[in-house]
Amino acid sequence: MQVGFVGLGNMGRPIVQNLLRAGVPVSVYNRTRAKADGLEGALTVASSPDEVAAGADVVMTMLADDRAVEQVVFGEDAQPGLLAALPKGAVHVSCSTISVALSRRLAAAHAAAGQDYVAAPVFGRPEAARAQALWVVAGGAPDVLDRCAPLFDAIGQGTFRVGDDPATANAVKLAGNFTIAAMLETLGEAFAFVRKSGVPPALFLQILNGALYRSPIYGNYGQLIADGHFEPAGFALRLGLKDVRLALDAAEAVAAPMPLGSLLHDHLLAQVACGRGSADWSAIAEVSARNAGL
Ligand SMILES: NC(=O)c1ccc[n+]([C@@H]2O[C@H](COP(=O)([O-])OP(=O)(O)OC[C@H]3O[C@@H](n4cnc5c(N)ncnc54)[C@H](OP(=O)(O)O)[C@@H]3O)[C@@H](O)[C@H]2O)c1
Repeated sequence: MQVGFVGLGNMGRPIVQNLLRAGVPVSVYNRTRAKADGLEGALTVASSPDEVAAGADVVMTMLADDRAVEQVVFGEDAQPGLLAALPKGAVHVSCSTISVALSRRLAAAHAAAGQDYVAAPVFGRPEAARAQALWVVAGGAPDVLDRCAPLFDAIGQGTFRVGDDPATANAVKLAGNFTIAAMLETLGEAFAFVRKSGVPPALFLQILNGALYRSPIYGNYGQLIADGHFEPAGFALRLGLKDVRLALDAAEAVAAPMPLGSLLHDHLLAQVACGRGSADWSAIAEVSARNAGL
């Protein structure tokens, strides 16, 4: 299977490394070409998205946001996108966390071009990507998902199939990230409270995760907040703000109120306004610390 891959950011690069380790030949494109340096395996570095797509059986994209995906897929100015070059019957696997609306638009555009489209956003941070331990949330026609299964196996520890409509996978991903953002907010408020009460954050975390949650996600994020260790970002706060905004948009479209989402949106936005957009999104905890005069 000839695979193309676009986007070698914090997530894309380790994913490509795992595809190469699994023996899959990969042609990559990244806007900043130097990010392909040091990748080992059957690798070709292309100079444009359409070059990656030409002759590919599957093209995977792992890009920052809707705008990046639109540029890469539909092209911009004189630069054609991957849609124009992907052969009929080939698949675009969109792994980025994008809007439900764009996912629907991609599905329609690929269908009109005689191509297949799968949404396969992932749960797991860059360290999980490196460890081949992502969880893939896949939406698309069952036979197309079957064709992509070896690729999902090469990058993750498991795949959830959520529906024939690809956009259902994007809704699940956004809802999942919303719950993580809500957890970060509650941790931020709780840590500010106990610190003001004279309890060492490390001790509080030990009790919280030992007695109550026993969860790696509480443990890992709790550690970042207890240590105030928000750089370098595993997942940048500006991307977390994007995900909460996308969840609110998609929820509004189906008339499902998410009042907590609105609060999370404003706290993340406040952090962007304070110049913290590139910090890890667990730095939302700084809002509660600031509000508590810490
Ligand atoms: N990090 C996480 O923990 C995590 C976990 C699960 C899902 N995700 C999702 O995965 C996606 C990628 O996240 P990431 O952490 O890898 O982000 P990242 O490190 O910021 O990488 C973003 C990638 O998008 C490319 N890009 C951005 N704007 C572009 C444009 N206009 N045209 C072409 N390429 C463009 C970047 O190219 P350059 O190298 O040239 O900038 C880079 O390859 C996001 O949708 C994110 O929400 C992230």
